[in-house]
Amino acid sequence: MSDRLFDELVEETKRLYQEKFGSAPEILVAAPGRVNLIGEHTDYNGGYVFPMAIERYTIVAASKTGASEATIYSNNTRATAKFSLTGDMTPPEKVDWTSYVQGSIACSIEKGAKTTGFNAVINSNVPLGGGLSSSASLEVSIATLMEELSGVKFPGTVKPLLCQKAEHVFAKMACGIMDQFISALGVKDCAMLLDCRSCEPKMIPLSDPNVSVLITNSNVKHSLTGSEYPERRASCEEAARRLGASLLREISMETLLASKDKLIDEVNGDRLFRRARHAIGEDVRTLKMADALVAGDWDTVGEQMYASHDSLRDDYEVSCVEIDALVEIAREIGKSGGVIGSRITGGGFGGCTVSLVQTDKIDEITQKYRDEYKKRTGNDATIFATRPAQGARVL
Ligand code: GLA
Repeated sequence: MSDRLFDELVEETKRLYQEKFGSAPEILVAAPGRVNLIGEHTDYNGGYVFPMAIERYTIVAASKTGASEATIYSNNTRATAKFSLTGDMTPPEKVDWTSYVQGSIACSIEKGAKTTGFNAVINSNVPLGGGLSSSASLEVSIATLMEELSGVKFPGTVKPLLCQKAEHVFAKMACGIMDQFISALGVKDCAMLLDCRSCEPKMIPLSDPNVSVLITNSNVKHSLTGSEYPERRASCEEAARRLGASLLREISMETLLASKDKLIDEVNGDRLFRRARHAIGEDVRTLKMADALVAGDWDTVGEQMYASHDSLRDDYEVSCVEIDALVEIAREIGKSGGVIGSRITGGGFGGCTVSLVQTDKIDEITQKYRDEYKKRTGNDATIFATRPAQGARVL
């Protein structure tokens, strides 16, 4: 997204604030969505992920009031709600947009960021439910606002971890750490190689102007997601347990292959083995891809992306026909047509693919993705290019 689009989003948010609350906002914060280049379903296994922040943001405009609670309007849901500032950690029964906001407020307060009442407007152009972490960007934007309102600055990993807790407790989604981490701590023009066991990020420049990141939204969302994510997580935990480890990260591919029979039984067939083979293989691919990126070895980068996709499709079973069609189209265009590599990104069951492409071929590739996707699935894809963006900040 160009600076112009970002500026427009900020201006729109200020205008909405003025309309809703009758004055100009005193504070503006932004937190980006993310795309994961590789390292999928590895974070909760203590493995490696390789995301970057994207030029799509949740903006929050706010001012303090004399009230005891917060009044917040979401332009995305066109709804206003009131939020307690007592730090009460009891989640409401129903999960909706207010759960992320209330969770992030409560968990920020728990970490010392206390504030008096405020008014705020939330306005986001991160596609909702598209696998680009609209929820994490919402949580992180609110935590960043809480820092600003309270004067308490969360050091290091505190902000991503409190936002993850908000998602676990209030949105009842047992996510890993990747999304909140990159939204909070992303660095412009860099992807983040994150070791999810030690929580140590390493910034890897992705600034070659000849290579661009293209995100293709399949615009499909299969409704299985709710139960499938915890099921994958539980399978990995069970596989680790049977292999005598607390996390699959601790198991090498050699050990896994040598212990295959421990993961095969009548109830599960080879399902646990395949889940583990994905998680363990994905760590290897992620480290290989990060090295290849540093070396400018684009062939290896592409191979890792396609191998990751195949593994997520066959072993982890989180892809779907629409997403497979997009990756197939990318493969057909190939290196000669300017596509370096492509894969499903995010939790799966729909959502987006991420492709690395030659910058001077973006227009042709976009057109081909659009036409072929429509021809093969009957659906329209939404496609945009992005550079690695800055993580959450006060504007
Ligand atoms: C979702 C979760 C992340 C991660 C990905 C899969 O985005 O929020 O923690 O597990 O799925 O890589």
